[in-house]
Amino acid sequence: MTGKALPIIIAGNWKMHHGVKATAEYFQKLNRLLSAQKALGRALSEGSVQLIFFPPAIDLYTAYIKTKAMPVATGAQNIHWESKGAYTGEISVPMVKETGGGYALVGHSERRLIFGETIEMTAQKLEACFKGDVTPVLCIGETDNERSAGQTEAILSRQFDGAFGDISLEEQTRLHIAYEPVWAIGTGNTATPEDAECACRFIRERLTRRFGSRVSRKARILYGGSVKPGNAHELLSQKNIDGVLVGGASLDPESFLQIAGAALPRHPG
Ligand code: PGA
Repeated sequence: MTGKALPIIIAGNWKMHHGVKATAEYFQKLNRLLSAQKALGRALSEGSVQLIFFPPAIDLYTAYIKTKAMPVATGAQNIHWESKGAYTGEISVPMVKETGGGYALVGHSERRLIFGETIEMTAQKLEACFKGDVTPVLCIGETDNERSAGQTEAILSRQFDGAFGDISLEEQTRLHIAYEPVWAIGTGNTATPEDAECACRFIRERLTRRFGSRVSRKARILYGGSVKPGNAHELLSQKNIDGVLVGGASLDPESFLQIAGAALPRHPG
């Protein structure tokens, strides 16, 4: 490995927003905006900042075509653990790869809470991603009730431990985990930078215990939950926050790029 700094990850989860036409328009606008932001463009080309877009599955190919010439990545919001078969409504890792997708969200709280995704399913999905050469972003986080009951660390441990089976050393170099407290998602109640840092530090320690310090240092730990242009910089200044997963504020390319701008060092050129 070179001594190259690891990227700050700015990821946009569009959820069930933007169809094919809106996706094409989004990336046209993003391209226009990016060409006027030299410092950010440089950071993306050099790899010190990485933008990842998670549009609805039906938009993935359009997103790929529109971003082919741009230094950004795309991925799926959800995948199935089998590569093909009788699974109506699902998409697989090889299908995501074919559309140019390099990432997949796994275990987003909306999947867990609305669609009944279990911890065992997240483990199968992670394994399928690693095998299929798609980088998973495992989402973990506690609900409001669990937080009030002082169970945050217990929940994070359960979701973390349950998701990782026997993964190989090679796979361990691609660990991405998003701490997303459920009470902060879509509510405007962002976790304080201190609370977000505390949970992300806990995840880093968990990674160290499970995989060793080399792997945990290289892992990317993201915070998600009501991230906006106004709070991104403070969140990204925390020692153990290596990026953000943005829902609502990623739907407009302008606000998403403002958040990405918060990942740049102070005095951009
Ligand atoms: P939000 O969503 O930024 O709208 O709170 C974040 C997420 O669910 O990933």
